[in-house]
Amino acid sequence: LERTFIAIKPDGVQRGLISEIINRFERKGYKLVAIKLVIPTKEFAEKHYDDLRGRPFFNGLCDFLSSGPVVAMVWEGQGVIKYGRKLIGATSPHNSEPGTIRGDLAISVGRNIIHGSDGPETAKAEISLWFKPDDLINYTANAEKWLYEP
Ligand code: GTP
Ligand code: MG
Repeated sequence: LERTFIAIKPDGVQRGLISEIINRFERKGYKLVAIKLVIPTKEFAEKHYDDLRGRPFFNGLCDFLSSGPVVAMVWEGQGVIKYGRKLIGATSPHNSEPGTIRGDLAISVGRNIIHGSDGPETAKAEISLWFKPDDLINYTANAEKWLYEP
């Protein structure tokens, strides 16, 4: 099964939205395989957002990501990379549909409360940037037999 990296950014943590966000992934049927609370350094944030180096908002974005606790997670499930992005909604909450996490819970693009990997390669790279292989827990969730056809 596919895995993706999801992070609740410092605004989501400070606004008390951790359980709300986790709930949406859990209810969908995805399986949590790693989770930790961490304050990333600025250097680490720059590594995470390396592809955005040179963008005008890059410095502010990395300052922000390293400004407080972040909930770093790995979620597993069929199609979780692409559909996880759907649950999250468009980058700017001005464009995110109601019903999505950003659409329901955020207003501005620089404070859009959650990050999700944008493809299989970035998912792989981000999971190994944020977690050691041993941090990823392999288990069968009881619900799996009700979520997937054999
Ligand atoms: P992530 O899941 O956080 O990676 O968001 P994304 O994949 O939807 O967007 P992208 O990777 O292009 O941008 C990363 C983050 O940079 C976004 O989540 C925003 O918080 C921030 N960002 C992107 N575009 C802008 C912008 O035009 N202005 C500001 N202030 N922030 C931006
Ligand atoms: Mg992105």
